[in-house]
Amino acid sequence: FGKGLLKGKKIIVSAGGTQEAIDPVRYISNRSSGRMGYAIARAAAMEDADVTLVSCTTALPVPSGVKIEYVRDARELCRAMNSHFDDCDAAIMAAAVSDYRPKVQATQKIKKESHDVLNIELTQNPDILYGLGQKKKGQFLVGFAAETNDVIEHGKEKLKRKNLDMLVANDVAMPGAGFNVPTNIASLLYKDGTMEQYPKMTKDELGHIIVEKISEGLKQQ
Ligand code: C5P
Repeated sequence: FGKGLLKGKKIIVSAGGTQEAIDPVRYISNRSSGRMGYAIARAAAMEDADVTLVSCTTALPVPSGVKIEYVRDARELCRAMNSHFDDCDAAIMAAAVSDYRPKVQATQKIKKESHDVLNIELTQNPDILYGLGQKKKGQFLVGFAAETNDVIEHGKEKLKRKNLDMLVANDVAMPGAGFNVPTNIASLLYKDGTMEQYPKMTKDELGHIIVEKISEGLKQQ
């Protein structure tokens, strides 16, 4: 790597898990560490791309040469991705977006004395990737699918429904794959119905492969 594969290309990547506020001090989130998205951003920068990383709250250092924009919840992430999308060449949604958020965010900390049972009503978040798929104009769009069963079938369906060019599917139930581990076991599915399965490797290694595939995809568009 480091061959300037993405020179002159603008790439946007999302990473990490959204935090959906319940009240000023609590939130609903997930086990995403942000490592996969950060690895893709780092690999793209090493190939000389102009990279913007839209990051949910993580403990990770900002990769060198990458512009960072922090967001907390799905709606902020949605606004940030949309604001960078129109003039980008490729967009990669590696963030784990919460499907639901509390319908109402309490303005003050919820007190435990007032509740034996606390019900929090949830409402659906926008599907950011679906939205990007509807408005794309020649951009190479990449999504992720984290599943615990029938990974390829679900992945194929998602690729089509969200109008993606490539989907990174992983079985998060397998040891060494998915959330909060430094490795991943992935299959790359493409719009033309082809796919490639990869053995367990580090997220950094997989990041380089994904970036290579994006550069090949951009050449064909
Ligand atoms: O539909 P599902 O959540 O399995 O799809 C996963 C893909 O869609 C990921 O790339 C994720 O970043 C994206 N996504 C999104 N907005 C949502 C949910 C998922 O962009 N609300």
